[in-house]
Amino acid sequence: MVAPRITVNGKETPISPAAPHTTVLDLLRERGLTGTKEGCAEGECGACSVLVARPGVDKPTDWVAVNACLLPAAALDGQEVVTSEGLATVGAPGTPPALHPVQEEMAVRGGSQCGYCTPGFVCSMAAEYYRPDRCAHAPADPAGRTDPEHGPNGFDLHALSGNLCRCTGYRPIRDAAFAVGAPTGEDPLAQRRDQAPPEPVATAYTRGDSAFLRPATLAGALQVLGERPEAVVVAGSTDWGVEVNIRSRRAACVVAVDRLPELRELHVASDHIEIGAALTLTEIERRLHGSVPLLAELFPQFASRLIRNSATLGGNLGTGSPIGDSPPVLLALEASVVLAGADGEREVPLAQYFTGYRQSVRRPGELIRAVRVPLPLSPVTGFHKIAKRRFDDISSVAVAFALDIEDGIVRKARIGLGGVAATPIRALATEAALEGEPWAAQTVEAAARTLRAQGTPMDDHRASAEYRCAMLGQSLLKLYAQTTEAVSS
Ligand code: FES
Ligand code: FES
Repeated sequence: MVAPRITVNGKETPISPAAPHTTVLDLLRERGLTGTKEGCAEGECGACSVLVARPGVDKPTDWVAVNACLLPAAALDGQEVVTSEGLATVGAPGTPPALHPVQEEMAVRGGSQCGYCTPGFVCSMAAEYYRPDRCAHAPADPAGRTDPEHGPNGFDLHALSGNLCRCTGYRPIRDAAFAVGAPTGEDPLAQRRDQAPPEPVATAYTRGDSAFLRPATLAGALQVLGERPEAVVVAGSTDWGVEVNIRSRRAACVVAVDRLPELRELHVASDHIEIGAALTLTEIERRLHGSVPLLAELFPQFASRLIRNSATLGGNLGTGSPIGDSPPVLLALEASVVLAGADGEREVPLAQYFTGYRQSVRRPGELIRAVRVPLPLSPVTGFHKIAKRRFDDISSVAVAFALDIEDGIVRKARIGLGGVAATPIRALATEAALEGEPWAAQTVEAAARTLRAQGTPMDDHRASAEYRCAMLGQSLLKLYAQTTEAVSS
């Protein structure tokens, strides 16, 4: 087995002698690439953003921006990374490197003051710059106006939703983003998109009494988990990375499952959609193309683009957090979880999956292989995330609705709630209060009172229990207002 290494800015960079828990950020900085910065070390500021070559949706390779502070360096064994230093083009001897087009725009439009956040912004911007369908999908109305979150060049500002700047102000940064053109044919990173990305590499990296393992197959992963049930399973490491950095947790064994082919498929069958547990949220979003409206509504509100480029549905369910954003949506969609173990697979309805605070029916040695969403989908849906910030925040309460309404009568109601109990829950009493009743103000107001009393929310620093209850009721009233506005307009 070749010693673990990462190709950084075209140069092979061995991971040894770093410890298995060493993050990509720390490895880069230890090797002198100090453009990549640490701001928060928990995935919330984007100062550590770097580009990784990943399997593409429209081209063989996509340049994907990720938070280097959350990812173990060993997770990128055999992969290609570009940092802010690698974006500039080296000139003739004695001349300074030429700035990359996104760096140039940031410089000339005043997008950088202290500069601490700038390398991270530049990497997130570069990922969007190289998005193959960016220019082709610059949305504009017949008068040529674009929506406020897309530039005339198709630049989607959501690409920067995970990057914080404390001193420049965002207008010059937005100006720079909206000014970048299309990559030229000679641009080496644009050309690189036409070649296949690096294959996943089976990794067994051990230092002292800790190990990072990347089995090549699902069978191999299940064997490792059978032998080491205490192992921490990671996909995008967006949760575990925080534990390592902020809580100083260390694991004797970390098992990476994010590149297992069996966990990275997406099938649409006649009666269900099966979504691989290790597909990133960005990959799911791009592959589904809005065909599951409730998921399409969830994705922009799930953390930031940087996080969605690494985070997976399997991870969000695997942590069992009561405030994960995907469980309320998946509960409303009546999804089930496909668990793979040494004895085969079993399918568990998500409504029966959570058993307590961060507890589930998943047994030691089992992996979440996929999530199944039954078809047909209910046509009236909504996802309301109540949080202090619009993007990149943890929800105080999250509510997802999926309703079948025929001839003005609610035939079926499924409501998923997050943030109101020790686990994500279905609002069964509210569903019963709606089903068979007219979708009318009186019914909805009565059901909203029922919804306010569902769950056992707590007071904490994000919100009071009273506020959470109030938001549950308001959420149903908002859905009703949205549906009736749609009908009357
Ligand atoms: Fe803040 Fe990584 S250092 S997101
Ligand atoms: Fe100072 Fe952004 S330029 S934090």
